[in-house]
Amino acid sequence: MKRTHTCGELRSADIGKKVCVQGWVRFSRDHGGVEFIDLADAYGITQLVFDPEDISGGDRNSISEALRSFTRESAVSAEGIVRKRVKGTEDPKNKTGEIEVLITKADVLNRSRTPPFELGDQKESVLPGEETRLRYRYLDLRRPEVNEALRFRHRFVKAAREYLDKSGFIEVETPMLTKSTPEGARDFVVPSRVHPGTFYALPQSPQLFKQLLMVGSMDRYYQVARCFRDEDSRADRQPEFTQLDMEMSFVEMIDIQNMIEGLVAYIWKSLYNKKLETPFERISFSDAMNKYGSDKPDLRYGLPMISVTDIVKDAEYDIFQKILSKDGTAIVGFNVKHEIAGDKIGRNEVDRLISFVKSAGLGGMTWMRATKDSLDSNIVKYFTPEIISKLRERLDAKEGDLILMLAGPKKNVLETGGLLRSKLADDLELTDKDTFKFAWLVDCPMFEVDPASGKKDPFHHPFVLPTTPLDTENAGGASFDLVLNGIELGSGSIRIHDPELQRTVFKMLGISEERIDENFGFFLEALGYGAPPHGGIALGIDRLVSILLGKESIRDVIAFPKNKKAQSLLDGSPQKVDDEKLEELQIISMAIGDIDIEDIE
Ligand code: AMO
Repeated sequence: MKRTHTCGELRSADIGKKVCVQGWVRFSRDHGGVEFIDLADAYGITQLVFDPEDISGGDRNSISEALRSFTRESAVSAEGIVRKRVKGTEDPKNKTGEIEVLITKADVLNRSRTPPFELGDQKESVLPGEETRLRYRYLDLRRPEVNEALRFRHRFVKAAREYLDKSGFIEVETPMLTKSTPEGARDFVVPSRVHPGTFYALPQSPQLFKQLLMVGSMDRYYQVARCFRDEDSRADRQPEFTQLDMEMSFVEMIDIQNMIEGLVAYIWKSLYNKKLETPFERISFSDAMNKYGSDKPDLRYGLPMISVTDIVKDAEYDIFQKILSKDGTAIVGFNVKHEIAGDKIGRNEVDRLISFVKSAGLGGMTWMRATKDSLDSNIVKYFTPEIISKLRERLDAKEGDLILMLAGPKKNVLETGGLLRSKLADDLELTDKDTFKFAWLVDCPMFEVDPASGKKDPFHHPFVLPTTPLDTENAGGASFDLVLNGIELGSGSIRIHDPELQRTVFKMLGISEERIDENFGFFLEALGYGAPPHGGIALGIDRLVSILLGKESIRDVIAFPKNKKAQSLLDGSPQKVDDEKLEELQIISMAIGDIDIEDIE
């Protein structure tokens, strides 16, 4: 008999049916000669029962024999009759919990070795460390939680494809063996055997190709695109990850943002059957930095930083005076409102926050408590009544509120303020996992300038259309980020379509004419053939799915992720390659060729 039902399918309505279920033996127990087996598959768990008294002689022996080989996680097949469970033994938490299958025939399909850990729906605490689970990822995938994460991801991508298809996008595959695209990380390179000494780069993103597709009149492109970046892994970063990559011709920024809002709302409806609030909040880059100290602010909670430099600059308080006597410094205040903090932040907690601020690189933190009509702290004596009153007003300080102040070099103050804000939110439990707050980061700069060397780097990448003349201080770029709960989900922009402007931007980034021609000659040439105005965006699928599922790391939503050291514990990659292979690729001889023989001697 072939499988008639999955392990998640049988209900009371099936009582009396003869069925065949197949799956893995998750758990078995013997109750006074009656054997119970939890048979699991991707869809659920069905209880099998073998009661020798209910089965006639010959069958009884062969079933007994088979059950002896039903070791944990063996793949097995069982035929039987669906029956109601004995009253009081139903399991309301299990969708098949009202029934059981009385075994009439049992077969082992493939016996399992003893698994290195239990695969039930257990709590994290009884699971082995992640390294062990990644080593045996194929077993880890049998765990309901991991299995469900991949199924959710599938539904997510399917909904995205549906929406994009309905909106006139076509999916086009772009090359994996390619020339480097500058997304800011290192490339993984692949040696060419046919052209010894030359290398392909794996794409950091399909950026250049999707732009070329626009030149090629594709109009609306998307791809579930695998990207490769040789950068240090983190909870939200893998060397190999997936983008939902899109590009559109003849559009402006707002068209791309509207399309993404429609896409996310469609996915929301498909996954949760709920309406998602659109349009998303928009926040300018400078507001994000000044208020939240981050270009990906978590807007689930407030706690903004408020500049108080102009108010306290005249206070006769040495520390502030000394700091503000230097250029580029600032003082900001947080009001940790009594209504959100209650009495959770007392003297000891403030000391801990001060240590936190110091470890983030600032000299320290000043704090005060708002009283009914003043401020209470050991530095208030340096403040005139006018300063106190202005501070209270600016920070909206009411009795019981805790005021924290950070002073120092502005960049440092804002960055540390951003970290302190997240720490406060964690400590005060303001980050509800079930709240999803999307936002657009807009009005972004064109370049990031290294204050020491004055060297310009692209804020996003070099293909962003400038929105102001390029020689303006703080030149703007037509780029924007999609942010969710403090994580950057995606970035997009309107691109440069004029080859001369593109060349100018490359030059401003310090790339020589020679290098421009060598690396981007083909691309500039293409722009010269009537490239349409165009723009696009890429969303990190791994990141978005992991946030929606409330996972700590994107590794939890990738079937076969690398560990934190960019290794695959499952297959042992990366690995050494045989000398023979290296010779064939002429890599050994090249390496030796680079060494001066005299150095060896
Ligand atoms: P960007 O480099 O910002 O833009 O990448 C877009 C999104 O991809 C995700 N992401 C990652 N996810 C996991 N691991 C990584 N190492 C990783 N790096 C990036 C993030 C990020 O927001 N070509 C441009 C897009 C465009 O302009 O259209 C690009 O790749 O969620």
